[in-house]
Amino acid sequence: MISEKMNAAFNKQIKDEMYSSNLYLSMVAYFEEIGLKGFANWMRVQVQEENAHAMGLFDYLISRDGRVIIDAIDKPAFEWACALDCFEAVYKHEQHVTSLINGLIDVAEAEKDRAAVSFLQWYLKEQVEEEANCSEICAKLKLIGDDKHALLLIDQELATRTYVAPTIA
Ligand code: FEO
Repeated sequence: MISEKMNAAFNKQIKDEMYSSNLYLSMVAYFEEIGLKGFANWMRVQVQEENAHAMGLFDYLISRDGRVIIDAIDKPAFEWACALDCFEAVYKHEQHVTSLINGLIDVAEAEKDRAAVSFLQWYLKEQVEEEANCSEICAKLKLIGDDKHALLLIDQELATRTYVAPTIA
């Protein structure tokens, strides 16, 4: 069983992960539009990851006899000035998600729900990786400045990213 407060906090995080998925889907469309297919591929993988994050919480809530309620998802942004502008938005967003996961753990601790605290450690570690990934790409994009050739090399590199379904435990 799970407390009402914890149940509501999980539902909110499911919604937030689904928002992340839609935000990155919007970024797929942006990169497809400007012809950077490798960047679009990176974002497509990101969409799959966010869906997995949402489903991990979804299945966990069900396993605890909770009740999943799917909420309305806000419209994400759809326009960015350039690849760097877009990745800076990703980095900022992931920092925000980290604060949401920390908040969720705060609720679990306040509710003395040690099982949920333990489950959420995976999400905490995942956020460290998420922030590191986009911070690295931002740094590269800053480094190359207006060099279009270098941008295409990064595009080739991001085209190789493949989705590996995570084991969320
Ligand atoms: Fe689900 Fe990108 O954090």
